[in-house]
Parts: sequence; C-alpha cells; structure tokens
Amino acid sequence: MSLPICTYGNPILRQRAVEVMSVNDDIRDLAKEMFETMYKEQGVGLAAEQVGRTERMFIVDIPAEGDLGDDGQRENPGIEMPLVFINPKVTGHTEDIQVGPEGCLSFPEIFANVERWYEVDAAYIDLDGIPQTIHAKGLLARAIQHELDHLDGVLLVDRMSNVKKVALSGKLKRLVKETKKAL
Ligand code: NI
Repeated sequence: MSLPICTYGNPILRQRAVEVMSVNDDIRDLAKEMFETMYKEQGVGLAAEQVGRTERMFIVDIPAEGDLGDDGQRENPGIEMPLVFINPKVTGHTEDIQVGPEGCLSFPEIFANVERWYEVDAAYIDLDGIPQTIHAKGLLARAIQHELDHLDGVLLVDRMSNVKKVALSGKLKRLVKETKKAL
C-alpha cells in the first residue's frame, strides 16, 4: 500500500529522526510501503519522515540512465539498486563539489540547484540488519546527502540560494498553505 506524502509545511519534516534499534517486521513493512510510495510518485529517493514516520531510514533507487556521468559512463557500476539505508552516516567525502538540479517529493514541482559533494562514503544498516558501507558518486551521492538531510529535519528549501528562495517564495507560501489546510 502506498502512503500519502508529507509536504512542506508539515512539522514532521523538521524533526530529527530517531535511530532504529532493531530491524524487525515493522521496519521491513515500512520499507515495502516506502518503495510502493516512491515508485508511485516517481521519485528516486524517499525518507521515512516524508511518509509521516520518524525512523532514521531512507530508500534510494537511481535508474541506470540516471547514473551516467558527463562521459556517458556509469558512475556506480558495482552498486545494485534499490537500496535501503537504516541509521545512515556519511563517513567521508572528497572535496569535489557538484552543483546540480534537485527536486523532492515534499516540494512538488519545485526544483533548485544545490551544491553537494560529488563523492561520499556512507555507513548504514541494511534491511537484513547487517552493517554496510558504500562509496557513491554523482546522483547517488546527491540522493544520499539529500535523504540524510531529511533525517536531520533539513530540507531542499534550506539548501537553495537566497535568490532562488526569493524567486520561489510565492510557490513555497502556497505550498505551506495547502499543506496546513490538509493537516
Ligand atoms: Ni526530499
């Protein structure tokens, strides 16, 4: 069953998510519902807070055609999608920063350029409860940083330039109003 998406203006998106103590059936059910929701909404990443939950957990599924670098080669050829990240942490990154367009299912029809590290190392627990590490580049690295932000209550609107925020202020205000009306 897919779940409704919490949009900007919903206070849950500003919470700090809570560590998962045990990867149990509840967590596995949540992951399944998050995947159904993300695929229905055609996103490439989704954090638990976006479906109204406070577990430190997100999912990512970058399609092969989205994983191509400027040279047309796969950026993360050895990594199998989709991925579930439980209690994730960025453990390292290169200094290289890439500016790229970002969207978010909690900000429908809003896109903004955001600076992210081009490569990150992350540690997390998988859906079998096993600790994992990953070295990610490009869009996958971007998605990991975006979703990890969600778990700390940090949103796309906090990462865009002030100029962009001003340009989008009407749209953002309308979104908050619609969100509050629906709560
Ligand atoms: Ni998002």
